[in-house]
Amino acid sequence: MKILSVETSCDETGIAIVQANGGLKNPKFEILENLVATQIETHRPWGGVVPGLAKRDHEKNLPELFEKIKDKTENVDIIAVTVGPGLDPCLWTGVNFAKEIHKNNFPEAKLIGVNHMEGHLFSFLLAQETADDVWRVANSDIFPAIQLIVSGGHTMLVHMRSISEWEIVGETQDDAAGEAFDKVARMMGLPYPGGPEISKAAEKGNPKTVDFPRPMLNSNNHNFSFSGLKTAVLYHLKDISNKKKYDKLSFDLNDNQIQNISASFQEAAVDTLSKKTLKAAKEIKAKSIILSGGVAANSSLRGRLKKESENIEINFLSADAKYQTDNGVVIAVAAYMRHASNKKEYKIEAQPNLKI
Ligand code: KG4
Ligand code: ZN
Repeated sequence: MKILSVETSCDETGIAIVQANGGLKNPKFEILENLVATQIETHRPWGGVVPGLAKRDHEKNLPELFEKIKDKTENVDIIAVTVGPGLDPCLWTGVNFAKEIHKNNFPEAKLIGVNHMEGHLFSFLLAQETADDVWRVANSDIFPAIQLIVSGGHTMLVHMRSISEWEIVGETQDDAAGEAFDKVARMMGLPYPGGPEISKAAEKGNPKTVDFPRPMLNSNNHNFSFSGLKTAVLYHLKDISNKKKYDKLSFDLNDNQIQNISASFQEAAVDTLSKKTLKAAKEIKAKSIILSGGVAANSSLRGRLKKESENIEINFLSADAKYQTDNGVVIAVAAYMRHASNKKEYKIEAQPNLKI
């Protein structure tokens, strides 16, 4: 199956062409094209994603990206488009574009709506470690698994019983992990998006500088909360800076302070995410821990979960960083998996609050 996919749920415009085969038992993917037009420069002055500007950029980017890959679209079987969750105007831009190219260029192809979170959920199928070993999926050798999905909009633990059966066992009760990274970065005057900036600054900092809280670490459920950690950073910044009033502007800090606070905050976030993932993994006697979502690009989190998995001798599966932040490839993968599973299809319309 040749799949052309469109992703516009937030601030990255993604178009990809993926060749997929093997069905649910032996899914294999060959990436023919993977174009992502980032909107970082558009949103940076505002410190976060502005939906109206994101929509405008998607409208401009989509035809440009499509033009670049047009000569590889012969015999496309499936047009896949993200229908949710995400920002309503952005989702509509992608949906309308997909409908239009479906009608005008690929009337024979099937149009499939994709749940963005299933894109993250199935991204591990692109993991290099699994590439030679995809047969293990078929043989259920990797299931049951616990998957931690950490993005800018979501933080959840998913119990995967098989490649087609899963349930959410824990979720954040307030901020998503990526959102906490972004907000903390903003308080320290670091540019948007804050996750990669904190990660970079943390490399030079001492994680033991401040002992930030690990919210809900000892709760007897699998839920998360990151707003308390964010507030703890805010109070710390108030303590060490002259500016007593935090007025949506950032605090004035030197590089050394930024590096140490970044390292300490990252340590608290990674510690909480890893310990809670490990606890859930042990509870369900998982054979694998799977990591996905934009924050999975964080090398400290990846390294920690990989090590913890090795310690208890289970698999650790996670795709390259480029398939963690939003892109079209994982949308094509999710479309294929849904198609192969014979599950009910999603309506081709924007569904900002779609659940997995
Ligand atoms: O999955 P994603 O691209 O978009 C959503 O679906 O939300 O995730 C974006 C999030 C942002 O909050 C960004 O700051 C975070 O992922 N992120 C990171 C890193 N790279 C991206 N957070 C921590 N460390 C990173 N290296
Ligand atoms: Zn995402």
